[in-house]
Amino acid sequence: MAEAVRAVGLTKTYVTGTTSVVALDDVSITLASGTVAALLGPSGSGKSTLIKALGFVSPADRGEVLFEGRSVVKDGTALADLSELRRRHLGFVFQKANLTSFLTARENVEIACELGGKGDGRRRARELLAYLDVAGRERSYPEMLSGGEQQRVAIARALANEPSLILADEPTAALDSVRSRTVMELFRKVAHERGAAVLVVTHDHRALDVFDVLYEMEDGRIRPATAAGGARR
Ligand SMILES: Nc1ncnc2c1ncn2[C@@H]1O[C@H](COP(=O)(O)OP(=O)(O)OP(=O)(O)O)[C@@H](O)[C@H]1O
Ligand SMILES: [Mg+2]
Repeated sequence: MAEAVRAVGLTKTYVTGTTSVVALDDVSITLASGTVAALLGPSGSGKSTLIKALGFVSPADRGEVLFEGRSVVKDGTALADLSELRRRHLGFVFQKANLTSFLTARENVEIACELGGKGDGRRRARELLAYLDVAGRERSYPEMLSGGEQQRVAIARALANEPSLILADEPTAALDSVRSRTVMELFRKVAHERGAAVLVVTHDHRALDVFDVLYEMEDGRIRPATAAGGARR
């Protein structure tokens, strides 16, 4: 299977005053197109730091990241236009929806569709909101939406540019378990139907059967996870 992103030997140390924390300790991971992977691990183990390195938000100090086979970051140096890469090919979902408060749900998604340059923004925004079961809220402003609805709009927004890589950092932390599972199944559907590689940081062990692959981080290191009941597929 084609690889969307591959990281080799990522190491990152945060230095604050006299203390330093090794957040990534020689982490290597490959995310294949068309698969959905979970990233597990205790608080402070380096999950968000890894997501930021894979998403070209905050590079590691050492190591290499290849996007679709092309080296784009090496030892903290960008070898490509990373903001262009993010805008065209990546989708992000965070714990908080962070929607633009003065735009409606549809406008939030529509702007992302137009930036992503994949055709009629308004029509695509409508389709994506329907896909996420929030079509009825498209004229609502974020403050009028529940946390779960805001998050579904945020996921629609993340899909706007038809990303080949979707990175989600605890996207369901604000959702109840039924909605959480629905969202995880949606990530799987996006991976399997649209061929995106999806990596989801999650603490919700009830939905792990949704994932193709499980990884676990501990003290900045990564390994394949062997959670009870493991991945089905
Ligand atoms: N900007 C920063 N400056 C200094 N230290 C940081 C910074 N960001 C993260 N760290 C430290 O790096 C380590 C890894 O943090 P990270 O946020 O990646 O963990 P995490 O696995 O995402 O945790 P959580 O499950 O709580 O979100 C932690 O020890 C954290 O305190
Ligand atoms: Mg985190």
